[in-house]
Amino acid sequence: MMKIVVLPGDGIGPEIISNTLKVLKAVSKKFKFEIAFEEHLIGGCAIDKYDNPFPPLTQKACLQADSILLGAVGGPKWDKVVSEKRPEAGLLNLRKTMNAFANLRPAHVYPQLASASSIKQEVLGNNLDIMVVRELTGGAYFGDKGRKKYENGEKAWDLMMYNTEEIERVAHVAFKTAGLRKGKVMLVDKANVLESSKLWRETVTKLATNYPEIELKYMYVDNAAMQLIRDPKQFDVILTENLFGDILSDEASMLTGSLGMLPSASLGFGKNGIYEPIHGSAPDIAGQDKANPIATILSGAMMLLYSFDMKKESDAILQAVSNVLDMGYRTPDIIQPEMKLVGTEEMGNLIAAQIV
Ligand code: IPM
Ligand code: MG
Repeated sequence: MMKIVVLPGDGIGPEIISNTLKVLKAVSKKFKFEIAFEEHLIGGCAIDKYDNPFPPLTQKACLQADSILLGAVGGPKWDKVVSEKRPEAGLLNLRKTMNAFANLRPAHVYPQLASASSIKQEVLGNNLDIMVVRELTGGAYFGDKGRKKYENGEKAWDLMMYNTEEIERVAHVAFKTAGLRKGKVMLVDKANVLESSKLWRETVTKLATNYPEIELKYMYVDNAAMQLIRDPKQFDVILTENLFGDILSDEASMLTGSLGMLPSASLGFGKNGIYEPIHGSAPDIAGQDKANPIATILSGAMMLLYSFDMKKESDAILQAVSNVLDMGYRTPDIIQPEMKLVGTEEMGNLIAAQIV
């Protein structure tokens, strides 16, 4: 029996999660395996109930789970609370607790949606498929931070620090991932300015000798931000530190036409992981049956593949999503002329119904 902790979170989190559970249940029925879902609070809803965005109960359940499925956290309601108690702090705490140091964010353009991209077709080419491997538990997000008054005001700092092991473990993930794809790793850094980036380059260059079949190249982050728009086809796997990865993965996602389509997996050394859409909690459309559940449904597919080695079960979800897109159904974020507009619930039902 697979034990999955489900963390719907805030905003559109509960709706995209409930529709993902429909799809996972359909898969478990078809392929005859059992999943137990256990729901817990994280983010703003946990602050409301326990005054803590990652309460001990949730923490304990996550540590005992085979895997974790997360919706989204945050919203204007909690914007004013102090930073250690913001919903986002709950998410960072979860990542740290699970030691989920490697964040895989695929940006894959569905041919059916290529015209929804803000980038020209000839720039995108056919079947654009980039994987951002973002370091997730280090750097400025977790380094020493603070504020101090001085005579003319205040100063504030967030230390971006990495050690060899933190770089090596995520780099291994990037090289192995590239081995299953086109065999190319682009290390994105700011080694012309930052000391931490220099350590990244030295460490990754040394480690690359273990992967002679993989091509390793380097790019400064400012150039990478530009090249992603100018010529995205040149990328296969992008390996980068936490903050750069946060920014570049949002950028890469827009190549695909909608943030609402992109899943992610956050992995550590073990088999369990955190699976979540890369988009946020979209409080402006929460509870209105407008959210696109596909990113979360695809996160469920990543979970089956990465945490449970269930390739055909995972592929069944990918195929179901593709079928529903072929049938012309679209949520508001990806609607185009002559397509059929559906809400969150109907999209979930349609995809689940394809799993037979
Ligand atoms: C993401 C999000 C988070 C991050 C926020 C919500 C803390 O933007 O998963 O990309 O910055 O990592
Ligand atoms: Mg982000």
